[in-house]
Amino acid sequence: MENNVRVLILAAGKSTRMKSKHAKVLHRAGGRSLIEHVLGVARNLSPDISVVVGHSADQVRAAIPEANFVDQKEQLGTGHAVLAAREDFSGYAGDVLVMPGDVPLISADTLKVFLRFHREGGFRASVLTAEMEDPRGYGRIVRRNGQEVQSIVEHRDATPDVLKIREINSGIYVFNAAALFESLTKIRNDNAQREYYLTDVIGILVGQKQKVGAFKVSWAEEVLGINTRQELAAVDQILRRRKCESLMADGVTIIDPATVYVDVDVEIGADSVIYPSVQIYGKTVIGEDVTIHSFTRISNSKVGDRTLVREGSLVSDTTIAEDAIIGPYANLHTGTVLGQAAQVGNFVEVKKSTFGADSKAKHLAYLGDATIGNKVNIGAGVITCNYDGVKKHPTIVEDGAFVGTDSQLIAPVRIGKGSYVAAGSSITEDVPPDSLAVARGRQVNKEGWVKNRKKPAGK
Ligand code: UD1
Ligand code: CA
Repeated sequence: MENNVRVLILAAGKSTRMKSKHAKVLHRAGGRSLIEHVLGVARNLSPDISVVVGHSADQVRAAIPEANFVDQKEQLGTGHAVLAAREDFSGYAGDVLVMPGDVPLISADTLKVFLRFHREGGFRASVLTAEMEDPRGYGRIVRRNGQEVQSIVEHRDATPDVLKIREINSGIYVFNAAALFESLTKIRNDNAQREYYLTDVIGILVGQKQKVGAFKVSWAEEVLGINTRQELAAVDQILRRRKCESLMADGVTIIDPATVYVDVDVEIGADSVIYPSVQIYGKTVIGEDVTIHSFTRISNSKVGDRTLVREGSLVSDTTIAEDAIIGPYANLHTGTVLGQAAQVGNFVEVKKSTFGADSKAKHLAYLGDATIGNKVNIGAGVITCNYDGVKKHPTIVEDGAFVGTDSQLIAPVRIGKGSYVAAGSSITEDVPPDSLAVARGRQVNKEGWVKNRKKPAGK
């Protein structure tokens, strides 16, 4: 039944009220841009989606490369935006669902019910409406004797009586495409904003005695439109709250959902425990029985089952296997891969490195561009000197090696399997397997030196 509906998303407007140099629809809530939210929902209804772009068109195109685009060169209003797609729709006489790009909370289920309402009612046009506590800024639905829709009046053009109406236009409609494009040729811009309003099409069709329907959603939150940064923050909060609720429903313990920020695309397995003030962003996937302590931020990473992430750790673009112990205050980033039961602790930074199973770097180390084998021990304060000012060089530490405290591994360098590096060494040459490398000045004790120094000269 959803066959043959085409979708047109309006995303050409500037973000005047956002006071932003970026297109409004590129602002983000819950870890996705507004246009990604709307497009994601639209995909549930139709494979045939066109997006009207104009302001910052290139950035919008780049954000959603899979869509079809229509250019609106000048942004002269929502009616003008739809008109830009006229050629695209020539010869098409079916239904078109028109949506703004700034209503990220709308659900596919609601849109499906709305489409069914439109079709079963035999309407030429239908508008999705809601009763709002605070209808400020929205177009109002004017009904004849409280019954059929008569017109939509924009807030800025409304009389005091119309301003009292709390039923608002969501900006989401289904039109018969032929009726839509035919009416659009009749709209004018003689209004407060000097714009060509899509909303005027409703009044025009009513004037022609065409059947126009209005479908009111029971949950006004769904049709919140974002015009300001305040509204963006409010929607972000709703998305976050919903995300925490759905994770908890799926068996994740979130100790204080009010302070936990989890993006909508994140996955977390059952019996994982998230402490207060944790942030998990992007396409992160966290396994089961994972514990994440406070002040940790994880983005675009994978964390295996039963891993423990202690306080204050930063994890980005990193894959961590099962049973690992991270932090406190670890910084893992840029393509790092940690093996099973690896331990990377206090103030350890690991960049673009692999770190094998059962290996440990528990305190104050820097490992960059390194390949660390299994069962390796990296002592406190070990540093890979991977950068010579021009190029980055690799460090390899083979299985079972022991790198003593406060050693520098000056790359490119390889520590052979099972070898030992003595504490405080500056390693500049490869160490063969099963050897001991000592690379530091030998200690000299000068007995009586202090007493001798204190003797006045010449006595
Ligand atoms: C619009 C509706 C209003 C409704 C509200 C719901 C009109 C005239 N008003 O108002 O009745 O209550 O949405 O949120 O339609 N756009 C273009 N090209 C343009 C102008 C806008 O593509 O020339 C796009 C914007 O990028 C945006 C959408 O159309 O995604 C809506 O535009 P916006 O300026 O936000 O309209 P509202 O004032 O919110
Ligand atoms: Ca809007």
